[in-house]
Amino acid sequence: MDYKKYITVVDDWPKEGIKFKDITTLMDNGKAFKSAVDEIVAYASDLEIDVVVGPEARGFIIGCPVSYALEVGFAPVRKEGKLPREVIKVDYGLEYGKDVLTIHKDAIKPGQRVLITDDLLATGGTIEATIKLVEELGGIVVGCAFLIELTYLHGRDKLKDYNVLTLMQY
Ligand code: PRP
Repeated sequence: MDYKKYITVVDDWPKEGIKFKDITTLMDNGKAFKSAVDEIVAYASDLEIDVVVGPEARGFIIGCPVSYALEVGFAPVRKEGKLPREVIKVDYGLEYGKDVLTIHKDAIKPGQRVLITDDLLATGGTIEATIKLVEELGGIVVGCAFLIELTYLHGRDKLKDYNVLTLMQY
């Protein structure tokens, strides 16, 4: 499916010079959204996934339907101060900002096979930080799936050792 026709590119948001890729217009279309989720599920189906991990907030939108379809759990990665129990944390750099990501310490058991999902691979800072959290808990990152890849930001350079799927490239 040509998913790009469902993405709205918003100029100068949230900052001047950023061409924001709005996925809500893809989510609005039930068939397009289901098809995108189904492609990720098909990609993951022979990876023997134990748990899906997605970073706040749009990683939840993609990761939860995928985990539901795979009949495995979903573990949220959240910004600092959002998870109620014991966490581990990591600093990361964004395309436009800097922040801290956390995961519950018991979210992943050592040796579990993990699929990480998100809407967007930009600089790769978020996925790199998410991988660090998963690996620190002893998880094995066997796949990383995104709707969109901004190739000009070279996020893939940070993922040379990983299996990556992106459904659209800009
Ligand atoms: C966006 C996007 C990815 C990340 C990609 O999330 O949803 O998670 O940035 O950028 P990177 O590859 O340069 O790290 P954001 O941090 O804006 O959070 P949100 O989903 O809560 O809006």
